[in-house]
Order: sequence, then C-alpha cells, then structure tokens
Amino acid sequence: MNYIAIKLQASQVQLVSKTGLPIAKAEWAVSLDNWHEKVLSLAEKINTFDWEFMGIAIDLSKEDLTDLDKSAMQTLSESVNCPLVLAADLASVANVEAYFKQVAAEQTWTLDYYGYTPGKSEYSVESLLTTGNGFIGLRGTLPEMEISEAHYPATYLAGLYNGAPSVIEGRTVINEDFVNSPNLQYLSLKIENQPVLEINEQSLTSLHRHLDLRTGVFTAEALVNSQGYQLKIITRRVVNMAAKDHYSLSYEVTPMNFSGKIKLIAKSDASVINFNTERYRSLTSEHLDITHLSAEGATTTVAVSTKQSKIQVIQHSELSGELLEHEVVNEISETEIVQTIAVEAKEGESYGIEKSVTVAYFFPEEASASADYLVSPTPAKTFETNRLESYQAWLGLWEKADISVTGDLMSQKLLRLHTYHLLVSGSPIANQALDVSITARGLHGEAYRGHIFWDEIFILPFYQLHFPEMAKQLLMYRYHRLGAAKENAKEAGYSGAMYPWQSGLDGTEQTQEVHLNPLSGEWGEDYSRLQRHVSLAIAYNVWNYWHNTGDRQFISQYGTEMLLEIAEFWRSKALWNEKLNRYSIPNVMGPDEFHEAYPNSQEGGVTDNAYTNMMVVWLFEEIATLLTELTTAELGELQIKTGITAEKLAEMQAIRQQLNLEINDEGIIAQYAGYFELKEVDWEYYREKFGNIYRMDRILKADGKSADDYQVAKQADTLMTFYNLAKAKVDDILTDLNYHLPADYLEKNLDYYLQRTSHGSTLSRIVHAQLAEMVGKRELSWQLYQEALRSDYQDIQGGTTAEGIHTGVMAATLMVTLQTYGGVDSRGELLSFAPDLPNTWQALRFCLTRFGVMYQVRLTTATIEVIANEDTSILIGQTLYDLTKNQPLKVSY
Ligand code: BGC
Repeated sequence: MNYIAIKLQASQVQLVSKTGLPIAKAEWAVSLDNWHEKVLSLAEKINTFDWEFMGIAIDLSKEDLTDLDKSAMQTLSESVNCPLVLAADLASVANVEAYFKQVAAEQTWTLDYYGYTPGKSEYSVESLLTTGNGFIGLRGTLPEMEISEAHYPATYLAGLYNGAPSVIEGRTVINEDFVNSPNLQYLSLKIENQPVLEINEQSLTSLHRHLDLRTGVFTAEALVNSQGYQLKIITRRVVNMAAKDHYSLSYEVTPMNFSGKIKLIAKSDASVINFNTERYRSLTSEHLDITHLSAEGATTTVAVSTKQSKIQVIQHSELSGELLEHEVVNEISETEIVQTIAVEAKEGESYGIEKSVTVAYFFPEEASASADYLVSPTPAKTFETNRLESYQAWLGLWEKADISVTGDLMSQKLLRLHTYHLLVSGSPIANQALDVSITARGLHGEAYRGHIFWDEIFILPFYQLHFPEMAKQLLMYRYHRLGAAKENAKEAGYSGAMYPWQSGLDGTEQTQEVHLNPLSGEWGEDYSRLQRHVSLAIAYNVWNYWHNTGDRQFISQYGTEMLLEIAEFWRSKALWNEKLNRYSIPNVMGPDEFHEAYPNSQEGGVTDNAYTNMMVVWLFEEIATLLTELTTAELGELQIKTGITAEKLAEMQAIRQQLNLEINDEGIIAQYAGYFELKEVDWEYYREKFGNIYRMDRILKADGKSADDYQVAKQADTLMTFYNLAKAKVDDILTDLNYHLPADYLEKNLDYYLQRTSHGSTLSRIVHAQLAEMVGKRELSWQLYQEALRSDYQDIQGGTTAEGIHTGVMAATLMVTLQTYGGVDSRGELLSFAPDLPNTWQALRFCLTRFGVMYQVRLTTATIEVIANEDTSILIGQTLYDLTKNQPLKVSY
C-alpha cells in the first residue's frame, strides 16, 4: 500500500504518494517556517485524497525537531488518522508496511505532549496525564511544579471529602469539597548560587510528557536552562495499581554544560489548598489542619486532619537511590518538610533519586488504628517494585477490558484512553477496600467536588461487563447510604428512599443551593437537586447487575431492598390528578438541567417529566417481576426491613398503568407537561453572536432571558429512556400507559429534540449517537460518536477538562462501541449480538462477562466469532446458537 511523503521546501510542501503505482503528487504553497500553523489545512488536503495510504513520512531531521514540530506532526497524524514517521527512519527499515503498523499500534497505547502552555491548557493536559489506581490520583504535573494558575499538582484520594462554610453575598453556604491532599511529590534542584529551579516558559527549553496507557507509567523529559546552566531532567511516576496505598517517583538530573554543586530538594508539603476550579476559588479552599510533620534520615511522615469531617490522612515517604550515600539534610517548618542532598555534579553525568510514598486515611472512629499507623506507617516500596507490581496488575485489567478496533487509529487510541482513565478513577483492585463510587470527574480534578451523580448509569455498565465484582462494590456504596436516602425522603415529606443528586461522604444531599453564572457573574438559586431521577439510575444499575450476574445474595440482601425503597419514594410522590384522570409526578427536573422551573414560577421543578415517568413505570414493572422470583422467606424479611405493604405494592401497579405523559399529535413526547407551550430559540442568532453555544442556559441568562422559557435542552432527556431501555420495552411501557404513537415515533422524537439540544453536557452526544444508529442514521451516529470520543482529549467544552476528566462520557463511549456498533445487548434473557460496524472498522474485539461466563468476541464486517469459557447459548440476530465451552463459534451475519 502507498504512503505519503511530505517534503517541506522553502516555499511549498510537496506530497507524494510513494511505493506503488501510479505515483500521485500534490504541491501545496506553504513555506517551511509556518508549516505548524497550516497543519490542519494540510490535513484537510490529505483527507481529500482518494489514494489509500498507510501512513505519512515527513522529511524533517530528527536532531532539529522542536517541541512545536513534534506537536504539529502529532496533530497531522491524528487529523489524518494514520501514523506519521520521519523519512530518515523509514529509509533504514526493511519492511515499510510493518514499520507503519508498529508505529500505529504503539500510538494507540500512548499519550504524548510536547511543550508547555501555562494556564487552562496545561491544567487540561495534566488531567489527561493523571496516573492513579482507583484510590490515589496524581495529576500529570512535573515534580517541580507547585500550586499556581499556570499549573496544578494535586494528590486526590477517593472518598476524601470535607465540608466547609463559605460566605457568599452575606449568606453562608456549606460545600463538601473533594480535598487535595498534601503534596509529597515535590522534587527540584538548586544549582549553587542560583535560585531553586522553577518550571516556567523561561526555564523550559523543551518538554516531552509521555503516558504509557498499558502500564500506567508517566515519563517526562525536560531540558531546562537556569541562567545559562543547562540540565536534562527525566521524571517517572507510577501509582501502583496492585497495591492501592503506594506510589513512586524517580528523578534523574544531568548537567549538560557545567560541573558544579547541585542540591536536590524533596519536599513534603502540607500547605496545599484546593485551587483547581477557577469558579470555586472565591470559596473556602483550606481543608486541612496539620497534625504531624516529622523526618528522620531519608524518611518523612506527614499527617493532616480534614477540618470538618476529621479524616486523618497520613503519608509517609522514603528517598532512595545512589545519592543516598550523601547526607540528607531535613528542615521542618510549620507546613512542610524540606530534604536536601548536595552533590558535586559533573557535566554529562546523571544523578538520580527516587521518592516512594505510602498513603492512608482514617475516619474519626478509627482513631486508635490511626495513632498506631502514625508510629509505624506502611513502609514504601521501591520505584521498581511499584512499577513491576503495577505493570502486572494493569496487564490483567487490560486483558478483560480492552476494546480492540482494526482500521481506525484514533478511535482505538481514544477508547484505550477512556478505559485507562476509568480504571484510574475506580479499579477492581483498590475498590475492594473502599466505600466509594466513581466521581463525575475522576480522581483528576475538583469540578463537581468529587461528587457522585446519576452519571453512574453510564459508568456502571463498564464495570458490570468487565469486572462485575467491582460493579457490586459501587452499588454497595449506595446501599451503605440507603439510610441517608430514606432520611432525605422523610425530610422532603415523602416515604421510601430519595437519593441525593450529588452524593459524597455520607450520602446526604451535597448539591449547592446557589451557583455562579460565569457569563453574568451573578449567583442564582440552584434547583438541580430536583433531579430525583438519580434514584432511578441507581435502581436501573441494581437491576442491571442482578440481570447480568444472577447474584442472589446481593439481590436478596441488598438489591431488592434498595429497589423497594426507591419505588416507595415514587409511590409517595405520585399524585392522583382528577382532571387528567391519571397519576402525575410534580416538582422534578429531568436530565436536561436547563429547565429548572416553569416560566416565571417562584418554585423549582416541573411536572410529569417524561423520562422520569417512563422510568418509574419501568421500575414498578421490574419490581413486580422480581418479587415473583424471591422466596417467601426472602419476601418476609424484606417486608420487615422496608415495611412496604401489599397495599403499597398494589398501588405501584395501579400507578404504573396510569401515569401521565404529554404527547402531541405527531407522537412527540413532551419533555414535561407544558413543554410545547415554551418559546423557540433563535439558534441562528445565538450561533452567530457566540459561536460556541453549548451552555445556552448561561447565554440566555446573560441576555436577560431564562432557558426555562424556551424549548432548549442541555442533553438528552425524554430520549434518555431509549438509551437505557430497548425500544421494544419503551413501546410496551407506552402501550401499558394506553398511549398509541406512530410507528416512526422514535425517529420523530430524535429529530425534534436534536434540533433543540445544545449538547451542554458531554453526556449528550453519546446518547444521541446510540439513538441515531437505532433509527438507521449511521452517518449522524458516527459524527456524534466521534465528537463524544474526543470530548476530553480535545477539551471540546473549552476548559472543563482542566477540572477533571468526564467519566460518564468516557464510559458511555465504551458502552456505545459495544452496544451500538458491536450490537451487544445484555438486557434480555439471552446475550444477543446484532453488529453493525462503522464503515472504517475492519474488526472489533472485546471480552465481556455475563452470569460468570466469560465471552471473547471478534467481529468483522461479515462475521462474528465467539468463544465462551462455559457451555451457554447466545442470540446472533434472531438465531439461537449453543456454545460449547472453549469452542469458537464463527458465523456470518
Ligand atoms: C450534566 C449532568 C451530570 C453532571 C455531572 C452536568 O453537566 O448535565 O447530567 O450529572 O454534569 O457530570
């Protein structure tokens, strides 16, 4: 196959198709000096070629490559979706095709950034380069970096929260924050008579950061120049995926143009604050009281206590490496420990140290364990031990979770990036010992304060299919907070369990009461807690877990209790409406957060949100089925635990058939009662005025208007029902409710709502991608899927990745890949497959687990191959196939 040779000349770029006939040639007027700026249009040009090519070779000299060249080469490669190599490297390889393939394969497992752009862009790179293991999350900063607007090192620990009061316009608001822990990662140096090395645009000559997704090892190679002294610094960082409390850094310094005294500096800094999210900076950001700082030889111990939640965090560090032959001088101040090692360094020689850290936290009731730990903390492991243990653990995780795509380099890379970050945010290994769930923004940043949202409905299926035991632990996080959810319901005047919209430490409602509109600079009421559908997401996840694992112990001990309490909440919330002659559910918000209330209403919430109501019907139906599957003894126990009577259960079944939806003559299901009376937005006008209109609510507010008055949506709302449930199931729900819609109602609803959706949440596009495929709009589906895949990698919201990755969309892209394109459906009795691979994909490979059976699946555009490790049956299309243990079944579809 051909490849494209790019020749950068003084006045033009020449593109030549090499190896193979005919040789095509295109010339393009752009001078050598500005090729970086023109790289996107160069890519556009290449993308119009109708030659098939396997890669690009560019004639730049390896020695002269700047960070800018490397970034531009990367952008070009990613924009044309094929590997790019240096012509000189290609000249020396025996098999050109194999070489391109190898470069492409490598590229799908790595993340590389060249250069340094302080501020939002750097913050976002750091989020994407985060290393972690489900307990610890370390942003991808350099160890010399300290908290500033330019860059933001942070150490996050899953489940570490602290409530803090802040005064806003004379009113005190309590926010429960996701706490940034003391920074034990700091390493830097001081050349004699020079200030301590700081990383900034002046001191950095070049920087390459590299993350190996397969092993979780972060590497940075920096060339720095401190007042003429040149040094090369190589940093490596690994958070041990196999042992949740451990991480290590290795730091190697080489003076490039001088010999002289260098002091290596290691700090254990407890003066840290929360500073990641700009709009929270005016709020209280100090969460820690320092309770202990000590150092002895190469070790330090730092203990802090969160001010309100009184969680004791203890971190212990050990320096190691050859330099430990030299004396370690320790200085302890009120907030930090500084360790220095002085060396006589020689030009061209390398000097390295390692810093390994162990981390633990203790709740107030664990005071005595905490005191013991402080005296003898877990000893650190060496960098190499952490790296090797972690590598093995990652291999095991990838074996189960990797999705492999043939024929599409970027989709493959981004699917791996998403899998990696989910496992950093929550891993089956660390989670065994934790009572946490997956936060909306991972262990990567502070947006949404590390809280747990309904995003679990997008996230859990990932764990469910690959690591069911982990899915169970995430559900147990909710079960342990069932009491708080019942209390929450009671306080609001309902019975049953009303889970909070934002959940943190103890399951109480953590949604802010006011929020800031960054466009208008004004604070306003926040009604988002009225998104009671979060309880339905939890119910859905419980059902999904049970339905795919058959975990009897879970469903009888915990799951059904949660389902019943959630159902009881909805029973108590549904009101009989005489006028409608139906039940109605008032005062809720759907997933579309732009609609908080009716126009000019002083009260938050809307009535009969279609998504909520349809999911309530679904829940009541599933409960009826589930109760028939339990034994009398199990039912008796549940009756005692929940107090839910037969009358209440009967009422649920009555509500299920008479809940209200508003549907127009065309078959459009109104997002909520009264939705059709809202005004239409002048999309053209706002698009022209603002360009990026994804936060249409804020734009309207700044314009003196309210999104409440308009038919505008942040994300899928009514349509979410079709993301959760098979279309046939939604049809049944509508029929049970005695609504009869036209055959093409899904297509009509998709068209209707897509025209009114600004995709203000990253969760939006991916849901619509699935729906578009369901109605046969393959191109639209692909476009939305691609945008969703790139949402964090390209920070498409223009700055939100800086505050953490978006775990919901990351997980959803993985699920949509399997469900929508792989055609996997695990919602029915039998696992079924109805693949429809995107045009560019030649093959798709993945594993999944259902009812304890592990399936390995390989799809091509025409065939499906499945191996199961037990005898079982599956559906391919409408046909039933029996699988024999470990025997591949291959069929054409
Ligand atoms: C979305 C919510 C989501 C939250 C946390 C918001 O922007 O609208 O649906 O739960 O982000 O990810």
